[in-house]
Amino acid sequence: MAGSEISRGNWSSKIGFILAAAGSAIGLGNIWRFPFVTGQNGGAVFVLIYVVIVALIGLPVMIAELSIGRHTQRNPVGAFQMLFPRSLWKIVGVVGVLTGLGILSFYAVIAGYTLGYFMKTIVGSFNQIISGEQSTQIFQNFSANPYLSVSYLFIFICLTVVVVMGGIAAGIERWNKILMPLLLGIIIVLAIFSMTLDGAGKGLAFYLKPDLTKITGRTIAQALGQALFSLSLGMGTMLTYGSYLSKKENLVTAAGYVCLFDMVIAVAAGFVIFPALFAMNINPAGGPKLVFVVLPSIFARMPAGMIFGTLFFLLLAVAALTSTVSLLEVPVAYFVDEHRWSRQKAVVAMGLVAFVLGIPSALSLGASSVLTKLVSENFGFLDLMNAIFGNYSLSIGAFFIAVFAGYQWGTTAVAREIQAEGSVFYFRRLWIFLIRFICPIAIFIILAYIAWTGEYF
Ligand code: PHE
Repeated sequence: MAGSEISRGNWSSKIGFILAAAGSAIGLGNIWRFPFVTGQNGGAVFVLIYVVIVALIGLPVMIAELSIGRHTQRNPVGAFQMLFPRSLWKIVGVVGVLTGLGILSFYAVIAGYTLGYFMKTIVGSFNQIISGEQSTQIFQNFSANPYLSVSYLFIFICLTVVVVMGGIAAGIERWNKILMPLLLGIIIVLAIFSMTLDGAGKGLAFYLKPDLTKITGRTIAQALGQALFSLSLGMGTMLTYGSYLSKKENLVTAAGYVCLFDMVIAVAAGFVIFPALFAMNINPAGGPKLVFVVLPSIFARMPAGMIFGTLFFLLLAVAALTSTVSLLEVPVAYFVDEHRWSRQKAVVAMGLVAFVLGIPSALSLGASSVLTKLVSENFGFLDLMNAIFGNYSLSIGAFFIAVFAGYQWGTTAVAREIQAEGSVFYFRRLWIFLIRFICPIAIFIILAYIAWTGEYF
């Protein structure tokens, strides 16, 4: 065991692990996806459901994934295969590997845009925007340029490949220690500024005053998808990260910190976006372009906005990088463990797959009108990938992980893993109840309802 631990790499400390897992969790999911999905789903009521789902489904599933990963010391496919050889459980792992590539492909497009916006801010493009329309126009000109979109996608995939090539502890851990807290700091400053804008009150009301009549099956399904996406759950990322975690650490507290930190960043991002959005009369249901339209208009009005803007987009790109790294790590760990590929080969091959798969997404925010309007006027290829992989695949994955931990492998086995080397399993009975009953039943009902009504998107 010691030998394999050394060759697979390990996190250097508990705080190192928490920061790495938080680095996977915190990213575009919090700052790009959370605001636009909240905006599309009625604001405060969505936030409320999201928070409840993080606590009742996200946290228990994270504990399950981490303990399966640490116990087996494997990638998702290998983990299920090791515990139940020749069973169908490994399909859950295979779907996770494919989902990792699917998410990475469109995620890297948006991550590339943050690099693009970093460059734009540095050269002073946002020194004098006034209206939301101008800001929208700037985004449209940028995203409609196929060369720019694809080049930034390529650059971002290359950055990811370089970091993942470096191996676990060295590659991922060191980025997170200073940069994530710094990101939170800057978000708080932006939120305070945003709340002082004229007309911000309407935005705060939209974000904080739930209108319970707006709850629909779709709102709940979107909140489930958003919670899982933001916490990197349902496809084996946390399972894979758990496999590098030492037996000494308490998984329950680690998972608790990660969920809390992730939620705080997302909710704080909402305080930046919504007051400003309403102050500038931008439509909250604008979809994936939302933050790229709102943020520059904030920087343009802020004292020292250019400095804040540059720093913000840089930190966002780094936060996205620590997430793309974790997305690429899942297929890489699979090919290294199960097919004995060298790490280099696996990293380059999977990076290439993600890049090619990402091209249609990169062209679907204006560059190609067919891809931009693939499903409907406001729903293109990237939205489709986001819905399939970012919502439904993760929801199905989380359902099976809950069933696996609650019934197949069993709560006693999970408890034994968590209590290895004397850690305390806090709230053990509550966890058992949630993972056996609430998680699988709630996810099943949500998915069945969506399938029944056909309100997928
Ligand atoms: N959680 C990441 C984010 O919020 C995205 C992600 C999803 C990463 C799934 C890994 C797995 O940006």
